[in-house]
Amino acid sequence: MACEVKISLGERSYPIQIGSGVLEGLSVALRDARGIVITDAHVDSFHGARVMGLLGGNWGKIVLPPGEPSKSASRWAEVLEKIAASGLDRRGVLVALGGGVVGDLTGFAAATYMRGIRFVQVPTSLLAMVDSSVGGKTGINLAAGKNLAGAFHQPMAVFADTDVLATLPAREFASGMAEVVKYGVALDADFFGWLEKNAAAIQTRDPAVLERMVARCCEIKADVVSKDEREGGLRAVLNFGHTLGHAIEKATGFSSVLHGEAVALGMPFALAWSMADKNFPAEDARRVLLLLHQFGLNVAQLKPKNLDWRELRAAMGQDKKSADGAVRFVLCDRLGHCGLPEAIPAEDLDGLLKGWCAHGIGE
Ligand code: GLY
Repeated sequence: MACEVKISLGERSYPIQIGSGVLEGLSVALRDARGIVITDAHVDSFHGARVMGLLGGNWGKIVLPPGEPSKSASRWAEVLEKIAASGLDRRGVLVALGGGVVGDLTGFAAATYMRGIRFVQVPTSLLAMVDSSVGGKTGINLAAGKNLAGAFHQPMAVFADTDVLATLPAREFASGMAEVVKYGVALDADFFGWLEKNAAAIQTRDPAVLERMVARCCEIKADVVSKDEREGGLRAVLNFGHTLGHAIEKATGFSSVLHGEAVALGMPFALAWSMADKNFPAEDARRVLLLLHQFGLNVAQLKPKNLDWRELRAAMGQDKKSADGAVRFVLCDRLGHCGLPEAIPAEDLDGLLKGWCAHGIGE
C-alpha cells in the first residue's frame, strides 16, 4: 500500500511517496549520499533511531528544541554553523524529519548553505504531510512576523509515511485536518463529499483511508504549485481561511492556538463574507462547520477568549500578503470553488471582525 504524487516543475520536479512504510525508501533514495538529519527532540525520540539506521553510518544529526521558537534567525545560524563544522560540501543532503517547523527551517538551511544544497522532506505530522512539506516555500520567523525571511527551494523528494500518524496526538491530528478540509472547501467539492463519507474512518486513522486522503491533498497542492511555483497568482488560493488564521496566530503570540486550529477559525469567517458577497450557499457553510466539528475542530470552543478586533485588524494589515493597506481574502462562490484573493472593504471587514469577536460566526 503506497502511492506516488509528482510535483512537475521541470528540472525541480520531485516525487512525494505516500503510504504505510514508505520511510524504508530513504535507504535506497539516499544510498550514496552523505548528509545531516535535522529533527526535534520529540520526533527524535519516536523516529530518530529508525531513520538514522536506514541512512547508514555516514550521516550526522542535529536535534532542535520542539516548537515554533526554533524557526528563528539565531537557530538557523546555529544550524548552518553546525553543518559547516561537519564539513558537508555542496553534494551534501539535509533530511528534514519532523513537522512544519523542522521542515521550514531545514529547507531554509538547505536553500542558504553554500547557496543551496539538496534536501529531503520526511514529514511526521499530518499538517506537514498535506501542506508544509510540499511546495518549496522555506523560511523562518522574524520578530516582526511569521515567515518573513525565506526562500523558494524545492526538496528532492518527500516521504510521507502514514504509519507515523498512528502516534500523533489528537490535537495535532485535528490541526492537520483543518488544512485537509480547506482543500475540499476551496478547491474540490468531490473531495469534500468524500471527507464527509469517510469522516469516521479518518477519525479512527484507517491506514488505507489516510493514504488516500493525504494523496488527494498532495495532488491538489501539486496541481496548484506546478502552475504557480512562486505565488505569482493562483497559488494564493491555498491561503483560504488563512487571513484571519494568521492574524489569530499573531494576536495570540504563536503559542496557544495551533496553525490548523487558526485556519479552522478562519474558514467560517471567509465563508461568512462569501455568503454575503458571492452567494455561497448557507447550507454548505453549515456542512463545513459540521465537518470541522466531526474532526475535533469545534470553532466555538477553539476561539480564544478576549480577542480584540482591533488587534486582529492590525495583524491583518501587517501580513506579507496584504498590499496598499488592503486586506485580502480568498472567497468561495460555491463549495470546492474559490477565486483569487480580493479585498474586503475596510468598513465591512471591521464590522465582520467586531461581530466575530463578540459572537463568533455560525457557532
Ligand atoms: N513549504 C510549503 C509550501 O511551499 O507551500
